Amino acid sequence: MIRRPGPTAHPRIAAFVEECRRAELAQAETADIVLAVAPALLALLAHTKEFLLPEHYRRVSGRYGRNVVYVSPDGGVSLFTLIWEPGQWTPVHDHGTWGVVAVLDGVLEERNYIRVDGHRDVTDGIQLCRGGVTLLAPGTVTTFVPNPDHIHVTGVPPTRGPAVSLHLYGREMNNYNVYDVNAGTRRLIDVAYEV
Ligand SMILES: [Fe+2]
Repeated sequence: MIRRPGPTAHPRIAAFVEECRRAELAQAETADIVLAVAPALLALLAHTKEFLLPEHYRRVSGRYGRNVVYVSPDGGVSLFTLIWEPGQWTPVHDHGTWGVVAVLDGVLEERNYIRVDGHRDVTDGIQLCRGGVTLLAPGTVTTFVPNPDHIHVTGVPPTRGPAVSLHLYGREMNNYNVYDVNAGTRRLIDVAYEV
């Protein structure tokens, strides 16, 4: 089941989500929201053993595992553990919202793309250039904001060990924009998660 607030949310999660929601209300710009939420997620990392259960470490055949930890009833924020086996990657995507990501175990790799066609909201005629790469080790917190979109691929190369990461998004993350780099298009794709 999806963990709703109240008695079903672990007190650590409830307090963290409350802090995130306060940041959303207090800050008009997403860049300021992640500025406030990033240290809160960093602090939460010290307590993951208290609220992460075996179900949050489930693996999925054929793709990386997405296990829900919390989704707010109004869809305002959502928190997931992502379980990465070597060789598992996302498609090229953006989330259409802000997000804060922390690595719990292993090294997660993020490869960035930069949109250079001069448009933000048009879904075809998209031109992307490959950008830099970030290697996220345990204890690292990274963030992103939308518009201009943060376009990236995340995963673990086959030569590296498995990884576990914790992802907070500024909405229920049940779909995202997936890019076809060669065709220059993107479309909104539903993404599954384990509840
Ligand atoms: Fe992503």
